[in-house]
Amino acid sequence: MPDPSPEPHSDPGATSSPSRSKTNPATQEIDVLIRARYPIIYVSTWEEERVEQSLRQIANARKKHLYTWTITQGLIKVGSEPRPGKNASNNTMDPLVALDQVIQHVEPSIYLFKDFHRFTCDERCNLTVIRKLRDVAYQIRDSYKSIIITSPLVKIAPELSKDITLVEFGLPDTRDFGKLLDRIVDEVKDNPKVKIDLNPVAREQLLQAARGLTLKEAENVFAKTLVTDNQLTADDIDIVFSEKRQIIKKDGLLEYCDTVEDISMVAGLDNLKTWLNKRSVAFTDKAKQFGLMPPRGVLLLGVQGCGKSLCAKAAASLWHVPLLRFDLGRMFSSLVGSSEENVRRAIQVAESVSPAILWIDEIDKAFAGATSSSGSDGGTSSRVFGSLLTWLSEKKSSVFVIATANDISQLPPELLRKGRLDEIFFVDLPDHSERKEIFAIHLRKRSRDPAKFDLSRLSDLTAGFNGAEIEEAIISAMFDEFSGGISMDTKLLENSVRETVPLSKTMSEELSRLREWSQGRARPASKTAAIDEQSLMRRKIEL
Ligand SMILES: Nc1ncnc2c1ncn2[C@@H]1O[C@H](COP(=O)(O)OP(=O)(O)O)[C@@H](O)[C@H]1O
Ligand SMILES: [Mg+2]
Repeated sequence: MPDPSPEPHSDPGATSSPSRSKTNPATQEIDVLIRARYPIIYVSTWEEERVEQSLRQIANARKKHLYTWTITQGLIKVGSEPRPGKNASNNTMDPLVALDQVIQHVEPSIYLFKDFHRFTCDERCNLTVIRKLRDVAYQIRDSYKSIIITSPLVKIAPELSKDITLVEFGLPDTRDFGKLLDRIVDEVKDNPKVKIDLNPVAREQLLQAARGLTLKEAENVFAKTLVTDNQLTADDIDIVFSEKRQIIKKDGLLEYCDTVEDISMVAGLDNLKTWLNKRSVAFTDKAKQFGLMPPRGVLLLGVQGCGKSLCAKAAASLWHVPLLRFDLGRMFSSLVGSSEENVRRAIQVAESVSPAILWIDEIDKAFAGATSSSGSDGGTSSRVFGSLLTWLSEKKSSVFVIATANDISQLPPELLRKGRLDEIFFVDLPDHSERKEIFAIHLRKRSRDPAKFDLSRLSDLTAGFNGAEIEEAIISAMFDEFSGGISMDTKLLENSVRETVPLSKTMSEELSRLREWSQGRARPASKTAAIDEQSLMRRKIEL
């Protein structure tokens, strides 16, 4: 029978509840779950200290005791005097004994079991603990006791799935970093050797630069910047930022990309550029107030070397948001089993630095890997993609996904389903005027005046070339120029073009398959794509 008595100190007017404005969303969620008497809450995080801090707040506000359990110390009441030997004789290091104690306690309490995933994973040796947990879940359902499990890994045996509620504990926000910084500054401020010079703007930038790190990582970074030169000033913002990039890359699947490319360096692809331009305000508060949802993402599908990756980089500088490249190759080379956690962390990092662009380059290759290895890795790859797709369809954060693909045959239909992405663009070979523009852009980039070249003639000669091949032709002509001691002109470029066999010639079958598929399924990225197709058909006949 449910206990009819009210939750202790939980009258609606109570001011002691962990205040909404001061706590992070995960703390609020845990608080709600505890009050709703969810017996076992599983918090996936690397930051058990932050969870413990949150639970202290909740326990204080709700007048409950807080216990922690570790395999080394057993069950200990937080705030009680450590009594060496006592816990050992209690033998609560044994999870079964500890869980028995949880049942026996009568006072309202929260129990934090750290790294308990070893006992909840689906292994034979855990049979008794798993059964015991289910018993405990049943017995404490009507009490004021809750079990919280923290672990960096989510390992839940199927039998437990109905008894355990999973909570993602997001990375710290700038407020958390602010408190951390205050503490560090407080510790060193009396030291005459140390100089702290941070105005409010620089401080805010420093905190922003730490976003995406765990609290521990941020602490290390702040401490390191301080120790290196005994100062904490506006100059340290860049150091924090570059340290962050290294940390995130070192143990994760994300890479911060420097984007020098801007949208003016992309020739053609007018539909796509207009689309991106329109959304450059999409992540502003103004757009939100207007009632616009943050856009989810696009898939850029199409011919190799035609500017898909270039557009991802250009979009980031157009929108002034960080570009995070999701390293798919690394995901598959990492040890099986850690992939899901890595994806989780990547998503968390992206969300914590949002608004941001999450760039998944050549996603088709990864899906090819997923199908071919599904038999050998116990389905990890497909689970990983499952979670990525679920995140895509449920996400509300301002993380915009740009996926690129050269091949449609490997793409799972779920990815293409409406609601996952906003739009699929088909990027075709550049047409006559786009090729002229590509020549002009790349000549200008190398300090050559495009007006001195017969761009129209060069464009005639490069039908079927992609952007990358045009760029290559220019580079190769520059080598001729450099070694031959002659200056570059249309003629020299013509020669270089003639030496190139465009990929489209050898891959014409794949190309028509791609074009056929995209008809009606994807929007052309270029305004003139259809006309270009006709010109290509003509050329085929000529060949
Ligand atoms: N539309 C374009 N405008 C300007 N440069 C282009 C264009 N398409 C390709 N390029 C050049 O070719 C290079 C390779 O293109 P990339 O974006 O990597 O192709 P994709 O990702 O479609 O295979 C680019 O870095 C750029 O220098
Ligand atoms: Mg590419």
